[in-house]
Amino acid sequence: MPETTHSSPTTFHLRKVECRYGKLKALASVSLSIKGEERVAIVGPSGSGKTTLLRLCNATLQANSGTIEILGSNAENLSPRQLRLTRSRIATIPQDLGLVPNLRVWQNIVSGRIGKLGLIGNLRNLLVPSKPTMTKIHTLLERVGIEEKLFARTSELSGGQQQRVAVARALFQEPKAILADEPVSSVDPARATSLVELLNDIAVEHGLTLLMSLHNLELARTSFPRLIGLRGGKVLFDQSPDQLEPGELEELYHLEPDEILERG
Ligand SMILES: Nc1ncnc2c1ncn2[C@@H]1O[C@H](COP(=O)(O)OP(=O)(O)OP(=O)(O)O)[C@@H](O)[C@H]1O
Ligand SMILES: [Mg+2]
Repeated sequence: MPETTHSSPTTFHLRKVECRYGKLKALASVSLSIKGEERVAIVGPSGSGKTTLLRLCNATLQANSGTIEILGSNAENLSPRQLRLTRSRIATIPQDLGLVPNLRVWQNIVSGRIGKLGLIGNLRNLLVPSKPTMTKIHTLLERVGIEEKLFARTSELSGGQQQRVAVARALFQEPKAILADEPVSSVDPARATSLVELLNDIAVEHGLTLLMSLHNLELARTSFPRLIGLRGGKVLFDQSPDQLEPGELEELYHLEPDEILERG
């Protein structure tokens, strides 16, 4: 069975969720529950619905049918204020990292709190950060191993260093969960492993939910206690990696020539 902490609250609860883009069904009847301190990798071929699932979990996309609860609240009934708060508690690291290249590292990290502080509070922080804010950013940069880059221009950092800025920015939000969408696709295998391990360690230290989509199946199997396999918008398996049968992996990545036509 996947690792579950029965005493901890549910972070994401999806019941029979369907999500369409026009006629294309990106997710079909997905039901799953992810609790407080779980660390889960979503694997599956391109187009299987991984990003769509993450966007439902951070409330940037709404389902067409079914229900989604995020941190105990129904994602459909949130007021604009509640929506902003919910999003601020779910930190997302997008595939392109979403950093502003011309800003200093510390400024990119501060901008992680835009959901909590609002635009004005955030702008003030970007112009004249308080001493405690800078101390906190420095501590976060130490944790991700690049404290010497505090004042560096973000565009002057390597890809691996920029990923660490994105992790620090997510943590600055003081989230309950971190979602990461293929955060390691543009770096070499050693850096990919190191970042995935860092995020896993941080999730354990802070008691966070970690939900990450990954193309690197081996990395997903070795780093996560629970794997969700998506194919054609459906959950093919949801279990711990040591229970995976070779047949299930073959099925996950097997190419059907007419698969795209079936999805319409
Ligand atoms: N904004 C959109 N408009 C129309 N179709 C979309 C949109 N976003 C995704 N899709 C389609 O929905 C399906 C699922 O896409 P999604 O991005 O969730 O897949 P994915 O598993 O993240 O793929 P990848 O591994 O390539 O990132 C795909 O068929 C995709 O073409
Ligand atoms: Mg994707």
